Amino acid sequence: MAFLMVVLGVVLVLCICSALLRWNEVRYRKKGLPPGTMGWPVFGETTEFLKQGPNFMKNQRARYGSFFKSHILGCPTIVSMDPELNRYILMNEAKGLVPGYPRSMLDILGKCNIAAVHGSTHKYMRGALLSLISPTMIRDQLLAKTDEFIRSHLSNWDDQIINIQEKTKEIALCSSLKQIAGIESSSMFQPFMTEFFKLVLGTLSLPINFPGTNYRRGFQARKNIIAMLRQLIEERRTSQETHQDMLGSLMRSDENRYELTDEEIIDLIITIVYSGYETVSTTSMMAVKYLHDHPGALEEVRKEHLAIRERKRPEDPIDWNDLKSMRFTRAVIFETSRLATIVNGVLRKTTKDMELNGFVIPKGWRIYVYTREINYDPFLYPEPFTFNPWRWLDKSLESQGYFFIFGGGTRLCPGKELGIAEVSTFLHYLVTRYRWEEIGGDKLLKFPRVEAPNGLHIRVSSY
Ligand code: HEM
Repeated sequence: MAFLMVVLGVVLVLCICSALLRWNEVRYRKKGLPPGTMGWPVFGETTEFLKQGPNFMKNQRARYGSFFKSHILGCPTIVSMDPELNRYILMNEAKGLVPGYPRSMLDILGKCNIAAVHGSTHKYMRGALLSLISPTMIRDQLLAKTDEFIRSHLSNWDDQIINIQEKTKEIALCSSLKQIAGIESSSMFQPFMTEFFKLVLGTLSLPINFPGTNYRRGFQARKNIIAMLRQLIEERRTSQETHQDMLGSLMRSDENRYELTDEEIIDLIITIVYSGYETVSTTSMMAVKYLHDHPGALEEVRKEHLAIRERKRPEDPIDWNDLKSMRFTRAVIFETSRLATIVNGVLRKTTKDMELNGFVIPKGWRIYVYTREINYDPFLYPEPFTFNPWRWLDKSLESQGYFFIFGGGTRLCPGKELGIAEVSTFLHYLVTRYRWEEIGGDKLLKFPRVEAPNGLHIRVSSY
């Protein structure tokens, strides 16, 4: 009897599950939608997506093609893995394909954050941002600051075991705070850093506003960061001193053709720190890893940097011409971003019902422009799983139409050249001063983010 009850129980559960799955499929079976599965009500296929990662995408593509529907991260979503279509989506924001980042991210980064604004407001905010981080600014101001900071930060590593993940995060954050307002050397630094880490966690969480949730903490962290930045702005206004940094430039509305309110200035600063922090630090960490694993590439990169050092006195910083001469280093950075896939893709959403690839995508659906697979396309990158920076010495690879490492269209990363300058400067001081060995045994995750959960440890000795 007990056995029969168990069997009946199992059958009942299976029936309910199958009915729920079926109901969820029928619910989304609107005419014109692309093929695909929607998984469970509310949760969709999020668990499979997070567990199987890139394999989930590849399996779905094998069943439904490069353009399929799913339900991930709380939203009905179209996944686009088609390079041509991805290009079209990135190029056509004006047709109603605007950024579709999760609510927690938009709430915590602020309503003037660049991902939250569209049309002419986006153009204006982006212009203001570019005026701070353009190649001219890198040449005239930012490179010297980056050099000064990284040069001093990379001293005394000799004979030490370094967690390179932790260090590259610290360097990326401090370097951007130095460029923004010299915060890295002020009493504000520690509190800012603590709040910033909470803010980052909050943006990656579900928007559940209960005490103790990461979302609530992230939101509180945003308020604390705003208070610190407001105080800094007030102090500068009272002292009337001029400052040669990003905040100084944003506050001098007479010189700067972009006149922003304090609220916009603060959201722009949060945008700069947030967007550059993880991308730059992860690229730096993975470059250290790949160079360690590929001595031939390390030798080539070191040759390039020693040649630069030979032209200089030991105390001379690297300058714009040095940076421009780092052709192989640039190639290492591209190859690292490609092979590690630092960014898997970008999110968009539809502002109206629209036709795409012969299907009708309803208003408000999210589109995951999944660019990861393009990085391993053997036609674009022969032997795609080999670390081969030399392939990038052919300049045309950087300008090919499916180069999405830094996004594309109107949202193409405005920090691309600054990011490259920061990683290059870091590699300059690392390879000219040190050699390093991996301690070994550290785990490295590639999805959904590239990270070493317990750190990536290297033993460093002087070169
Ligand atoms: C080397 C590392 C970097 C990588 C791989 C990278 C990648 C990307 C990608 C893929 C996008 C497109 C996002 C989208 O279309 O929704 C993007 C946008 C953006 N990036 Fe970067 N980025 C890097 C460094 C930086 C740095 C250093 C900064 C700032 C100083 C920055 C600021 C931004 C901003 C503000 C946007 C949004 C632009 C807009 O919406 O108009 N990035 N980045």
